Amino acid sequence: MAEKRNIFLIGPMGAGKSTIGRHLAQQLHLDFYDSDTEIENRTGADISWVFELEGEDGFRVREENVINDLTQKQGIVLATGGGSIKSKDSRNRLSARGIVVYLETTIDKQLARTQRDKKRPLLQTEEPRIVLEELAEERNPMYEEIADYVVSTDDQSAKVVANQILDIL
Ligand code: S3P
Repeated sequence: MAEKRNIFLIGPMGAGKSTIGRHLAQQLHLDFYDSDTEIENRTGADISWVFELEGEDGFRVREENVINDLTQKQGIVLATGGGSIKSKDSRNRLSARGIVVYLETTIDKQLARTQRDKKRPLLQTEEPRIVLEELAEERNPMYEEIADYVVSTDDQSAKVVANQILDIL
């Protein structure tokens, strides 16, 4: 049987990976996964707790394991955590095992979307904009390095972006 393709969504916090990923999975009749949700299911704790109890380093080990396991599946859409591409192993696995779509957005949009629920541990600070800018500087080249496609999620609804991705795949 022909191998079923995978679609991996990468990009920063607040790019819309999970919402867009769900639309895509539905349209393509693929299974949807979200690396953060998978970590929460496996640990029985939410991401903030994992950060609090194990620090960012502990969280990254869990994230790398989850990316390793999920990228071995076939026929999935995976929304990855914004920092997962810091791991070279994860970057290699993502680019080897599926089509990588980088969802690009502006810092303003990221701020607006992430401040709605204020759940991201790395943004529990007085200056979330500065954190997002620093992360973008460090990580955008990594997203670009492994992206097969780059799609902007600025001005469109998740559904429209999902349709754009369907068109280019
Ligand atoms: C993080 C992004 C989050 C989550 C964690 C750390 C990051 O996922 O994995 O809070 O380092 O950028 P989202 O990109 O889904 O918000």
